[in-house]
Amino acid sequence: KKDQLILGIETSCDETAVAIIKNGREITANVVASQIESHKRFGGVVPEIASRHHVEQITVVIEEALKQANLSFAEIDAVAVTEGPGLVGALLIGVNAAKALAFAHNKPLVPVHHIAGHIYANRLVTELKFPLLALVVSGGHTELVYMKEHGQFEVIGETRDDAAGEAYDKVARTLNLPYPGGPHIDRLAHEGSPTIDLPRAWLEEGSYDFSFSGLKSAVINTVHNAEQRGETIAPENLAASFQESVIDVLVTKTVRAVAEYGVNQILLAGGVAANKGLRAALEKAFSDKADVELVIPPLSLCTDNAAMIAAAGSVMFEKGIRADLSLNAIPGLDI
Ligand code: KG4
Ligand code: ZN
Repeated sequence: KKDQLILGIETSCDETAVAIIKNGREITANVVASQIESHKRFGGVVPEIASRHHVEQITVVIEEALKQANLSFAEIDAVAVTEGPGLVGALLIGVNAAKALAFAHNKPLVPVHHIAGHIYANRLVTELKFPLLALVVSGGHTELVYMKEHGQFEVIGETRDDAAGEAYDKVARTLNLPYPGGPHIDRLAHEGSPTIDLPRAWLEEGSYDFSFSGLKSAVINTVHNAEQRGETIAPENLAASFQESVIDVLVTKTVRAVAEYGVNQILLAGGVAANKGLRAALEKAFSDKADVELVIPPLSLCTDNAAMIAAAGSVMFEKGIRADLSLNAIPGLDI
């Protein structure tokens, strides 16, 4: 049987990414052009700048991926692309590039949900064992997703306000740390101790939803109140306290959901999965649960990339999911 080759394109935020995946699981090319340097001085992603960079980079990155895989486009079986959610102007660059490629080379076009991509990054590490639960934590999302089988996503909990990564980035800004702040808070947290009492939003009994805006505001207030009193708060202790509060809620709810849903695997996904404290806390929580396998992809597959989009696209392709040339970017797409 001929190898299946899927080319994936991801442009939902600030990385222009193209990858080629063989037989759903094997990375043959994975190119990511990051724009972080351009957005840093604004303290966050500027949508218009993101779109412009995507336009400049997209064809370069596609060619680079084909070169890396030593393939010509004729050998590709289908083009998978992130259709949403994300920044509309950014998404449109990827969607239009994918449509142009599919049209010019007469290849099937497969639309992929960005979060499905984050979850399927795990399939590049191990085979998925259903039923499973994915904890998706990124700059735009905090979700617990239950999957009974391939391509079936049931959101059992999600954030009601800020995403976990968004809270990290906003707290980092309060502490005058560069964007994106998550890795800086993570590093600082390991230098301090959680000496400051911060809230945890458990929400209603039994709820798997999350809320991080109250915690974020509590951190900001703590800093401002101290400033007014002419005191300084050790940033490493504040970072450690904030990180402990985020991880406590994420891990506790995940452990409870794993027990209730009786899953075989727990997958970690999204940029915040890079967090050392979160990884360690999950590993500890599941170390004594031999019947549940905890999967944590390497950092490069946790942050935005196109390998994950091609991996998800491979499954959607086999399920017969196709888009025609009327495919549009959907910034608020539900999974
Ligand atoms: O998945 P991602 O690359 O983009 C989105 O789809 O949002 O996630 C980016 C987010 C940012 O908010 C960033 O601060 C956060 O992931 N992040 C971290 C860490 N590394 C990245 N948050 C906490 N600890 C980290 N080590
Ligand atoms: Zn993402």
